[in-house]
Amino acid sequence: MTLNENGRSPGDVLSDLEARHAPDVPTHGGRTWAYVYDSGLPDLDLTMDAARSMYTAVNGLDPTVFSSIVGLENQVVGSVLDLTQAPPDAVGTFTSGGTESCMLAVKAARDARPGIARPNLVAPVTVHAAFVKGCEYFGLDIRLVPVDPVTFRADPEAMAAAMDESTVLVVCSAVSYAHGVCDPVPEIARTSAERGIPCHVDGCIGGWVLGWWRRIGLPVPEWDFAVDGVTSISVDLHKYAYASKGASTLLFRDAELRRASYFASADWPGYAMINTTMQSTKSAGPLAASWAAFEYLGADGYARLAQRTRAATDALVAGLPAIPGLRLLGSPDASLVAVASDDPRVDVFVVADEMRERGWYLQPQFAYVGLPRNLHLTVTAASLDNVEPLLSDLAESVAAARIAPSAEPAPELVEVARSLDPSTLTREEFAGLLAFAGLDPAAVVGGGLPMRMAGVNHLLEVMPPRLRERILAEFIGLLYTPVRD
Ligand SMILES: Cc1ncc(COP(=O)(O)O)c(C=O)c1O
Repeated sequence: MTLNENGRSPGDVLSDLEARHAPDVPTHGGRTWAYVYDSGLPDLDLTMDAARSMYTAVNGLDPTVFSSIVGLENQVVGSVLDLTQAPPDAVGTFTSGGTESCMLAVKAARDARPGIARPNLVAPVTVHAAFVKGCEYFGLDIRLVPVDPVTFRADPEAMAAAMDESTVLVVCSAVSYAHGVCDPVPEIARTSAERGIPCHVDGCIGGWVLGWWRRIGLPVPEWDFAVDGVTSISVDLHKYAYASKGASTLLFRDAELRRASYFASADWPGYAMINTTMQSTKSAGPLAASWAAFEYLGADGYARLAQRTRAATDALVAGLPAIPGLRLLGSPDASLVAVASDDPRVDVFVVADEMRERGWYLQPQFAYVGLPRNLHLTVTAASLDNVEPLLSDLAESVAAARIAPSAEPAPELVEVARSLDPSTLTREEFAGLLAFAGLDPAAVVGGGLPMRMAGVNHLLEVMPPRLRERILAEFIGLLYTPVRD
């Protein structure tokens, strides 16, 4: 058996786990500029850890048995409704994350308009892939509309042109992940309302920050329930509310639309199943941790964190133009920044590798029909003390990238990669591609990827999206090769 013959002591198990965790990029300390959200407040983390462990075995499936979770969820959702200027009758659901919130918004819109043979969803190309996933899972067509190539914001006229009688949901972002900009929500929601189509605003990443910035008196675009025609909003808590992972909210202007997001089945011999989310049995730990974060921080704590995040974003945006070779993409409305290169000798994928070697993680984003490749930076409260060192290492990294050998793949490799057919790709062809790219499959499974990823990123970038998806699925399948005795 793969399982140990005998159990181990808690100390032994945990020190082993700590050693396994050591090579991960740090989740705290402000050097990882994507995926993690650091408040910089250790007591907040300790409070959430204790709350989460108190509730970890509580089953969120049944609020009639574990009745305390009702109060926790109603309080958490109510606070997010307040922040988003929701009317008194608005309601919501606590979910496991942004993707679940977005997918449930898609299901609700579909089920609220039964009888449409092939429903569709209209969104800008910059909408989060969670909506593509929702459409695929729930059988909707997705109509992705190009954005303005300079501002990266949705084009309300093009969005309107894409809507028809089978459109069940229009989506815009506040803000988009890739470029950190807010779509023109009032214009888009007005058109959708005129046509009787619900409009969802994806505030998973930007909603919390925009809400708090507005509350502390900073000018922000109009994006929330104060805009007529906005029918639902998603706001993640495990991002800028600094809650433990597994926490988001999906808010509805009215309870009828929320009902369409639920699933009920009493048509089997077991317990009557009524789920507010996609999971059924679920830990109430993330809900308890979110509640604890809200109680621990309060409005003044969140206002301070939002202020720090703003100061860090401003310092970053002010400092970037001083680095020759880099340019900011668009004009960020929240605390997400995308930076591209304006010097053909500076390859941002190489810059990311150089930064990684200096202990920073910035996230490479591929070029996409007319939108340039870039590096994404998620600014958090803990970033503030790190902006100056980041800018200084970024300047060094850009200088190093300027004189580094090209990371672009050889033309023969590009040709091999492009010749692959995603619908028939075999594991052998994939293994051949890995070998051609200089990656040893056994090493990838055993120790992760090399530190320098620019070559691999370029190779992925030249592939058409369907092929890239297939290659990534093959790659992730390789990574998850089970350990067997
Ligand atoms: C705008 C937006 N929507 C949805 C999501 C999906 O959230 P999650 O990763 O929590 O599933 C993200 C994640 O970054 C996001 O930025």
